[in-house]
Amino acid sequence: MALIAPSLLASDFLNLGRDCEMLNESEADWFHLDVMDGMFVPNISFGMPVISAIKRIATKTLDVHLMVEKPERYIKDFRAVGADILTVHYETSTHLHRSLQAIKAAGMKAGVALNPHTPVSLLKDVLADIDLVCLMSVNPGFGGQKFIENTYAKVRELKQMIVTAGCTTQIEIDGGVTSANAKALVAAGADVLVAGSFVFNSEDPTATIANLKEITK
Ligand code: DX5
Ligand code: ZN
Repeated sequence: MALIAPSLLASDFLNLGRDCEMLNESEADWFHLDVMDGMFVPNISFGMPVISAIKRIATKTLDVHLMVEKPERYIKDFRAVGADILTVHYETSTHLHRSLQAIKAAGMKAGVALNPHTPVSLLKDVLADIDLVCLMSVNPGFGGQKFIENTYAKVRELKQMIVTAGCTTQIEIDGGVTSANAKALVAAGADVLVAGSFVFNSEDPTATIANLKEITK
């Protein structure tokens, strides 16, 4: 069964507390929190104060996805506001191995996100150090974009690398996830599905989350 991580980027910020309570009571597994700096990606979202507020009421794992340049500057700050998993982009990290160790030393699980154009093979020598690989299935920066079909091939290749290496790294898919592709992504090897607009723009987000859980059993 896949873990479902709704992305709060698509929530109603004026009613953020209500949407967090909804996730607490739903079958969602993690809260996915997208931090954007307007440099690595064109968009700016939210940062530490908002995550700190969410932490006060969230009863589930906070999965923080950093789309920021030089993310190593902020590792301790995100731990301090309550991140449980901290994901940095491969493309932003000159010293990725060092960042992964620093994330774990700060008490979090360490994730690495790959842009759609970045091959999974580049992770071979650090795979055993990574708790979570986030495969971007859209270009990062915005919710509501169309799923990139080449993601399936990347999931299969990464899954094979993980099996060959005998490690426990989880595979997360982020961008354009819907009930139309969820099952095939899990069949290809995905463990965690992020879903933003598909959940929060639906009539009944709680039911949409339950449906994603059901179809990925
Ligand atoms: C995109 C973010 C995603 C985004 C997903 O840069 O990393 O987490 O919120 O949104 P949807 O599910 O709408 O594609
Ligand atoms: Zn994300």
